[in-house]
Amino acid sequence: MDGLENPVVIEYEPIQHDVLVIGAGGAGLRAAIEARAHGASVGLVCKSLLGKAHTVMAEGGIAASLANVDDRDDWMVHFADTMRGGQYLNNSRMAELHAREAPARVRELEAWGALFDRAVDGRILQRNFGGHAYPRLAHVGDRTGLEMIRTLQDYAVHQGIDDHMECAVIELLTDGDRVVGAFAFDRDRGTFKVFHAKAVVLATGGVGKAFRITSNSWEYTGDGHALAYRAGAALIDMEFVQFHPTGMVWPPSVAGILVTEGVRGEGGVLRNSRGERFMFGDIPPLYRNSTADSEEEGWRYTQGDKDARRPPELLTRDHVARCIVREIKEGRGSPHGGVFLDIAWIKERLPNAAEHIKRKLPSMYHQFKELAGIDITEQPMEVGPTTHYVMGGVRVDADSQMSDVPGLFAAGECAGGLHGANRLGGNSLSDLLVFGKRAGEYAARFARENAGGQISADQVAEVARVALEPFDRGVDAESAENPFAIQHDLQDLMQEQVGIVRNERDLQDALEAIDRLRDRTGRVAVSGNREYNPGWHTALDLRNLLTFSEVIARAALERQESRGAHTRLDFPDKDETYGKLIIAIRRDADGGLTVSREPTAPISDELQQIIDARK
Ligand code: FUM
Repeated sequence: MDGLENPVVIEYEPIQHDVLVIGAGGAGLRAAIEARAHGASVGLVCKSLLGKAHTVMAEGGIAASLANVDDRDDWMVHFADTMRGGQYLNNSRMAELHAREAPARVRELEAWGALFDRAVDGRILQRNFGGHAYPRLAHVGDRTGLEMIRTLQDYAVHQGIDDHMECAVIELLTDGDRVVGAFAFDRDRGTFKVFHAKAVVLATGGVGKAFRITSNSWEYTGDGHALAYRAGAALIDMEFVQFHPTGMVWPPSVAGILVTEGVRGEGGVLRNSRGERFMFGDIPPLYRNSTADSEEEGWRYTQGDKDARRPPELLTRDHVARCIVREIKEGRGSPHGGVFLDIAWIKERLPNAAEHIKRKLPSMYHQFKELAGIDITEQPMEVGPTTHYVMGGVRVDADSQMSDVPGLFAAGECAGGLHGANRLGGNSLSDLLVFGKRAGEYAARFARENAGGQISADQVAEVARVALEPFDRGVDAESAENPFAIQHDLQDLMQEQVGIVRNERDLQDALEAIDRLRDRTGRVAVSGNREYNPGWHTALDLRNLLTFSEVIARAALERQESRGAHTRLDFPDKDETYGKLIIAIRRDADGGLTVSREPTAPISDELQQIIDARK
């Protein structure tokens, strides 16, 4: 194979691309499309089947200041909302690019075939979402992410992109300080693949599968975060894990499945077991002026009254999730450990409410009917927080999306910086379109301007050796560990001790427990052969899960304050010092972990003025 220094010692399929995109959700597809449009040969690695991605779990819409429903909206308001939602830890240049470019990315998606819901004048309809000043979410009922994936996928398959489905990357391959490819395996056949690429884009999504209750499916084991970290890139903002306020809580088999914020955007309200709209009791100072002080005003807002202020259910996710946890802890929860989310009540206000609910929220109607036996047009839902998204990720240059490692780019959820301490709903879909496109463009440029680099046969052989070790340890040996048991124990640990509320003692204990889980992982044994072997797949995922779990716990320990999605019971307030810094974590030369506090990215006078004018 071109670029190999030494004779091959293991069997693998060699594959060459200018740009390798790892991850085929919205960010990966958009990056692949753009890299191809810039003349690069592109490989798209998909851990699952093409089209199966967490993107579909952004159900309620894409945030973009199209101003179709409220003409007061523009990129500056969107920018200011995003910065406020992120408690001003966001990379302001990323937030600017995101807000400026999102409308064009939505129109482009429409031109590629996405069928959005329409306003009466025929323009794309937009709905309210938490933390957005105006109705801003372009949507397709409650299936927006699905429509986005369908559109991008249909478009991508006609561009001459090579997809590699059911393929998971085990390690990035490096030549000196730059990335030159990736070592992967075919999940179906168990065979190895060595990708040689001039540039690599990580678009692997999030980390939800380290937690017990999550909206993420099995693929989300933080692969991109861990791969980048091991390759030498810095991870930032990892203490900020988003617990979406509304996941299903009952029955247990479906706990964590997302209940879109679109329910609240359409007028759904949260109540405790006493029937109280508890969100009215706790309005954070940042939002006091813009939040309704009566149920009537909140309702008028959801119906498009421009003089009304948002209902408190449409405050940011970090805050709503914390209020829900408080209600449950203080004994005012629902029978199965959540609170009530009620959209059925709108019958009191709207003729044909049931039809309206089914039209605007068809998936929610179906989901509750089929999975919980609840008719949401008649009864309230039971909901509680679910691990949904990680704000932290690979540190990238705002314009190009390149990480600290030459040739390595990241986009979408596995990149950090845009969302700061808390992401606004709907900003994920616009994020992955805006920065997927940018990553693809700049990766193609990097590939054009740089030669391929060498793949080291020694590195390949070592990665393969480690990957196969679980087969060499007998499952019957006394010391043998089961990979599923370790993941299960990690999920309990992260949920209980590194979850929605934290304190120093729990975090310290969690770090020690992660070390013990790492020792156990060194004894993991699997039976059978390499063909579709879920035990082996989980054994391979464990290294990534443990890597970023440790990073999250370390970052959470370092931030001694409560801000956004990070709540410390031992430091319950915001601290001005921490409001000006981010936590960056990287691997040091000895394989250890270095934590550093770094100033937030500088902000231009123009952007600061935009923020100040809207505070
Ligand atoms: O609630 C939702 O529909 C999720 C949207 C998002 O995470 O952006």
